[in-house]
Parts: sequence; C-alpha cells; structure tokens
Amino acid sequence: MAAEIIDGRALARAVRREVKARVSELAGRGVVPGLAVVLAGDDPASQIYVRSKAKMAARVGIAARTVRLPAEVSAGDLLAVVERLNADEAVHGILVQLPLPAGISPEDAGRILRAIDPAKDVDGLHPASLGALVAGEPGFVACTPSGCMRMLAAHGVPIEGKRAVVIGRSTIVGKPMALLLLAAHATVTVCHSRTADLKARVREADIVVAAVGRPQMVRGDWIKPGAAVIDVGINRTPEGTLVGDVHFAEVAAVAGHLTPVPGGVGPMTIASLLHNVSLAAAGRPGGAR
Ligand code: GUN
Repeated sequence: MAAEIIDGRALARAVRREVKARVSELAGRGVVPGLAVVLAGDDPASQIYVRSKAKMAARVGIAARTVRLPAEVSAGDLLAVVERLNADEAVHGILVQLPLPAGISPEDAGRILRAIDPAKDVDGLHPASLGALVAGEPGFVACTPSGCMRMLAAHGVPIEGKRAVVIGRSTIVGKPMALLLLAAHATVTVCHSRTADLKARVREADIVVAAVGRPQMVRGDWIKPGAAVIDVGINRTPEGTLVGDVHFAEVAAVAGHLTPVPGGVGPMTIASLLHNVSLAAAGRPGGAR
C-alpha cells in the first residue's frame, strides 16, 4: 500500500484563504489584526520560524511585529515586554517564542507565559487556555496540535472510536494533542521516553502522532497497515537536510495517510496561528475549536 500524502502546504493555503476573508471582514469594522512575536536570543531554528510567521501574517493582512531581545535578557525585562503588549490595543495576539534563552529558568518561563493576557494567548500555552482544553471550554488551542487535527479532518480520517497513540508528552504538542483526540472520541495513549515496548504500543494505533524530536525513529514495521501517521518532528541531519521523527519511505509503504517533512505539519502550525490571531481580533477565542 502507498500512503496518501497529506499536503500541509496546500491545506495551509486553504486556511490562509479563510483567515484572509475574516481579516477583510474585520477591516470593514476598522480592525487590523495585530500579532506580536517576542524572540529572545539567537536560536537559529527560532529565527527561521519567527521569520516565517511574520511573512505569512503579512500575506493575510495581519500586522505582525517581532520584539527582538538579547540572549542575556532578564526575566523581569521579558515580563515587562509582555505587560506592555497586553496593554497595547493594536496587539490582539502575543506569542513568546520557545525555547527561551538558557538564562531564563523554567519557573521564570512559566511566569512569563502566565503573564500573557489569556484573550491574547494565540499560542494556547497559558495555563488558562490549557485548562479550558481539559475542561472542554472555549479557549485558544496550541497551534501545532490544532493544525494536526485539521489535517486529519481534511482527509476524512475517522477518529471516533479509533485508537490513537501520541508519542511525546510536551505541553506544546503531546499533551494538547492527546486532549484534542480525546475530545474527538478517540481512545488515546500517550507514550514517552520511559514507555515500555513503544513499538508494540504504536503498532496498535489507527492514528499515530510522532512528536519526540528523534530523527526517523518511527519505522515501517511499527505501523499498523492503513494507519494515519502525523509527523511533527523537524530534525536537521548532519548533511543539512530536514527529516521528521518518522522514517518516511518505510512508513509510506505501510500507512494509509502520512504527512511529509518538510511541507506537512510545519506550514499548518503557522496557518493555525494566523487563524487564532484572526479570532482574537474578532474577540472570539471561543471559536478557536
Ligand atoms: N517553538 C517552536 N514551535 C513553537 C510554537 O508553536 N510556539 C512557540 N511559542 N514556540 C515555539
């Protein structure tokens, strides 16, 4: 079997068209959606992501600004930047790019994310947004998991009653992903670095979401024939090419659906962010899912 490839670039274009329509509607009411991205330090991957976010925002008519701060920035200064953006009426969405520099402790990183006004939390990482997801209440959903859900929906992958395995338990992907699949009535297993017999768990799944950051870890013989496989990983090989957490050629021969890297989840993450910003500008975080 050759898997149907889920084209993230094409789906992201479709999402951007929807967002553009909402942005035009808002323009009629005199509102220009504004996104502020806070980028501290010089992590090369973050520089690339932030540039793409700003470029795509501009394409749909969102006014994006990047607040660049040195790697030595203090937690206090970062908090002050967030407070200033909270108070700025032209800013509807705030995103603090992760990871923060090594000098910011995990506790301070938590304080900085908690300082974001939940009405502007387009990244869905504030505890209020995460709590709303747990409680099934309206709120912003983290961009990568919501992009993954859209990819499954666009290809008509059934979720209700199916077994889903999420590999990775991060706050930014694994945990919200598991909650979204659960809300869609899947039976969800969350696997991680201490999971015993990971291959056997993955082989039971109708839907696999790989978000571990280990190049080509998921092999063809881990996959139940016909399963839908979503590859969240973006890993650079020593030769400089990008590969996912899934061995693409092997898994494509077995799976029913598969997302490529690049051109899969990455573009959908950005499209989901733009979607969230347009909802924030419309004053509707409740429409986020
Ligand atoms: N770093 C990598 N991806 C993301 C993301 O989606 N949001 C934030 N804030 N940081 C990231």
